[in-house]
Amino acid sequence: MKDKMNLPQILQNSVTNYFEEAIDTVIDYKEMFLVYDCAIKEIKTKFDILDSEFKIKHKRNPISTISTRLKSNSSLMSKADKLGIQFDIDNIKEHIEDIAGVRVVCNYIDDIYKIADALINQHDIELIKRKDYIANPKPNGYRSLHLIVKVPVFFADSVQYVKVEVQIRTIAMDFWASLEHQMRYKKSALDNAENIIAELTECAEIIAKTDEKMQKIRIEIDKLKIEKSAEETLIEKLRKINISLL
Ligand code: GTP
Ligand code: MG
Repeated sequence: MKDKMNLPQILQNSVTNYFEEAIDTVIDYKEMFLVYDCAIKEIKTKFDILDSEFKIKHKRNPISTISTRLKSNSSLMSKADKLGIQFDIDNIKEHIEDIAGVRVVCNYIDDIYKIADALINQHDIELIKRKDYIANPKPNGYRSLHLIVKVPVFFADSVQYVKVEVQIRTIAMDFWASLEHQMRYKKSALDNAENIIAELTECAEIIAKTDEKMQKIRIEIDKLKIEKSAEETLIEKLRKINISLL
């Protein structure tokens, strides 16, 4: 006959089981974040490569800065709440598309589309969603090109396909979005929030016009062909391959 457990033994067993389960859950979440972090690195590297290639071919960098972020636990929980989903790993992976975020800030509007198309056309990238808030700005004036892409991440014994949110915008659009973002958090403390919102929308329009004008000017400058001597052309080519002239 089996020995019966006494109450302290039962309690001790259940506490041990509870902690083991809790630790396993924490490890599962850590692993999930690791996978998203790797996906961020992959996408960032792809943009770095595109930027370097463009620089060699066109003698200028289309990308000004790239920043990345992993969604924090607390905003992950708020988003799950907002979406009305139960907070577990499978649900999170399926429904929350911005756990991994990459923001690419370009110099000109046409660079945004060139860089986005170059990414989407890569055969390991699957485009899940594309929202063009430049062609269709939000009512408050927000502009950016948003992509949700899936990228494979290769591990020793497995491959995981991971969603990454990519936001691509100009320096001016980024400047505007960061100020508008600050205003959102302080809206309740502002007496004249309505005025500020209206002013920000007005700024977004001015900024959009400036972006377009700057692009036109750059295109005009690109068209200018400067006559070069054979010697100047040779020096330029040597500079490209980084050979010392001395
Ligand atoms: P979220 O739940 O906020 O992620 O929105 P969504 O899933 O409906 O996607 P959407 O494309 O509208 O926005 C995704 C992200 O773009 C946001 O998390 C912000 O980083 C940025 N964004 C969108 N709209 C605005 C805006 O009006 N102002 C600013 N500053 N950022 C915005
Ligand atoms: Mg978001």
